[in-house]
Amino acid sequence: MPNWSTLRDDFPALHQQVNGKPLVYLDNAATTQRPRAVIDALSHFYERDNANVHRGLHALSMRATDAYEGARARVAQFLNAAASEEIIFTRGTTESINLVAASWGSAHLKAGDVILLTEMEHHSNLVPWQLIAQRTGAKLRYLPVTGDEGLLDLAQLDRVLTPEVKVFAFTHISNSLGTINPVAELCARAKKIGAITVIDGAQSIGHLPVDVRALGCDFYAFSGHKMGAVTGIGALYGRRALLDAMPPYQGGGGMISSVDFFESRWKPSPERFEAGTPNFGDAVTLTAACDYLDALGRDRIARHDSELGRLAYEKLSVLPGIRLLGPKTGPRGGLVSFAFADVHAHDIVTFADEDGIALRGGHHCNQPLMRKLGLTGTTRASFYVYNTPEEIDVLVASLRRILKFFSGS
Ligand code: ALA
Repeated sequence: MPNWSTLRDDFPALHQQVNGKPLVYLDNAATTQRPRAVIDALSHFYERDNANVHRGLHALSMRATDAYEGARARVAQFLNAAASEEIIFTRGTTESINLVAASWGSAHLKAGDVILLTEMEHHSNLVPWQLIAQRTGAKLRYLPVTGDEGLLDLAQLDRVLTPEVKVFAFTHISNSLGTINPVAELCARAKKIGAITVIDGAQSIGHLPVDVRALGCDFYAFSGHKMGAVTGIGALYGRRALLDAMPPYQGGGGMISSVDFFESRWKPSPERFEAGTPNFGDAVTLTAACDYLDALGRDRIARHDSELGRLAYEKLSVLPGIRLLGPKTGPRGGLVSFAFADVHAHDIVTFADEDGIALRGGHHCNQPLMRKLGLTGTTRASFYVYNTPEEIDVLVASLRRILKFFSGS
């Protein structure tokens, strides 16, 4: 049972030195570290239960199938979905959004329709929509971001959310600004004009309680590796009625009810969208990660991460010449993004690494937003359950050293 006072002990990767300094891991928006419970769940599966799922009648195959379908039920519960069949396993957020855009989009979009996105979308919630827009003749439109404060400009919502909008896709928490968007309100507004909603949950899944029914969304996409599970597994939540009316995304074994030489018939969701041998080994780590996060308490995780985001914003704001992005007040996720006019983000990340600090620098797959803000990129510090206020002090001290070096003083 994880415990807040000892939880750093649960994460083996945190206990190492980097360049002779204790590791300060602040790159959690890119990927989180894994708790021992997740690493053990993966080993346990491969040491005992490994066999292909759904097809076998032998003991190992039945155990593997139970573990795989158990993970689906656990994810459904974690998201408060109405049924396990609403959870499709994918490689992660990117594949989940590609699945919706390609499958739902090919069945429902046509010339004259509008796909509404926001200016803060990650390339994963932007390029799949560009691809389907090119195939169907639908047009893209964007809800603007206010500027460095990084809020969605809700005053513009009526202007952009017109009856031609068939799908509104937006992020729950921005990976480069830290903004927590009012997603329930956006879903409600979209519903009023009959548009479906797709939420990019990559940065929220491990950080906030997520209740897809309370949010009122039609689709919710996430990656396991952003919530302590392993890489290569994630999921798409979709409302059952929508999934059942969507064509397959890929064809192959496992997704058909029968095949003839010239045509085939599909199983319902979720099998329809899981062609081929699924990633059952990694799926079991989602169960372990959900159990771990629920035991810590998701409300408490949200408060912890948000408080570190706020504290980092406040402590960094005194550094000379810093340009901080994201909300100054109000809801903020556990990350802070910043830039200096005279020091490139990659230099900061490289120099901070000398101090044992893991940061991320660059455009964070938000090139259009960076261009709008007149930036080539930012440096980002992103937090998770095991980070502490003391680590923010280490970051500030390191940044002071770096600024001093680059100022030549
Ligand atoms: N999407 C991940 C990030 O923001 C990779 O770093």
